[in-house]
Amino acid sequence: MIVTPWEVSGRIDYEKLSREFGTEALTIDLLDRVQKHAGKLHTQLRRRIFFSHRDLNWILDEYEKGRKFALYTGRGPSGPVHIGHIVPWIFTKHLQDVFKANLFFQMTDDEKFLFHQNTKLDDPFRWTYENALDIIAIGFDPKRTVIISDIKNINYLYELAIKVAKHMTFSTVKAVFGLQESSNIGIIFFPAIQSVPAFLPSAVSGKSVPCLIPAAIDQDPYWRIARDVAPKLGFPKPAQIHSKFLPGLGKGGKMSASMPETAIFTTDSPEIAERKIMSAFTGGRTTIEEQRKLGANPDICSVYHYEYFLFMDDDKDIEQLRRDCLSGHILCGECKKMLAERVKPFLMEHQAKREKAKDHIEEFLAESKGVDLPE
Ligand code: TYM
Repeated sequence: MIVTPWEVSGRIDYEKLSREFGTEALTIDLLDRVQKHAGKLHTQLRRRIFFSHRDLNWILDEYEKGRKFALYTGRGPSGPVHIGHIVPWIFTKHLQDVFKANLFFQMTDDEKFLFHQNTKLDDPFRWTYENALDIIAIGFDPKRTVIISDIKNINYLYELAIKVAKHMTFSTVKAVFGLQESSNIGIIFFPAIQSVPAFLPSAVSGKSVPCLIPAAIDQDPYWRIARDVAPKLGFPKPAQIHSKFLPGLGKGGKMSASMPETAIFTTDSPEIAERKIMSAFTGGRTTIEEQRKLGANPDICSVYHYEYFLFMDDDKDIEQLRRDCLSGHILCGECKKMLAERVKPFLMEHQAKREKAKDHIEEFLAESKGVDLPE
């Protein structure tokens, strides 16, 4: 398995990954503590879609003492948003609602320019706008959220970025990210930029504000080095909560915008989404007879995973679906149809919210509101 911020491939063993990255599993005790505040555990926690963390217990300790924390997450705008990206965003919105937390949302348009050889600057600009509509459509609170574009809003980031950069050596960045001597120097500096929003809540408010970063685990290398730098600059170490990856519609691998036929984009028409779902890879058998007799395998089935991650909220329903799949009671065609019927209205609703977002995007952008959010 390979898991880096730029490449995720192979069969992912999340326990092994957590050991290798040095993160901690979400224990029942910790989930009980979250539940105490949330009332009900979010689906993504109940199902361990968010499965590991760093310092979440400390974030809760501080919160329970009356010290609020900020949330930080982001997007590298290089194309349309797919339904894998929104997994951590849906959870981030839940955390914002429960803990009344300010959210710093970074758009790393510089990252995409630097990493993709053929990308012109116009593309990230366009995608920053387009993707911001998706972010707003998730339903974040405009009073408590700011979207920061690295390129357009560098004035809010640069001072901190150079302070961070001074404590990051080339050899560390090279080792953590697997860079080469031939890597362009923008990429070498970039990890400092992605670290900055974790410290921004403290820097702008002038006091020490804990920060929690919800994201899939591919982003973890950034946080490892940001955590080393934090105490050197007098900031608290940013805490994390990590999610698993929503797989693509093909066989294996995470959903990725670079494989458009195996990704469902938030801007896909319901018909296109349905067509993609109907040709998805499943855990089915070669013949109907065989499947009725031997059952299918939900663990390798993308259709089952979409229900599990996003669309089937009731635990009884998902358990029933799993049993029906394993026993051969339900066939893959029926299952795909069922999923398509849930995905289509979801997309239509999301797209309507995206359209509405065009009218109040300024309420979210750093260039119009600054980055100093009210407490
Ligand atoms: P990006 O644009 O690659 O991904 C945006 C967010 O989506 C998560 N993600 C997924 N989650 C579940 N299933 C998937 N298939 C899937 N694919 C991607 C990513 O982990 C991420 O949370 N460098 C970052 C942008 C960034 C950022 C951050 C992300 C800047 N600051 C702070 C998270 C937190 C990037 O290119 O993300």
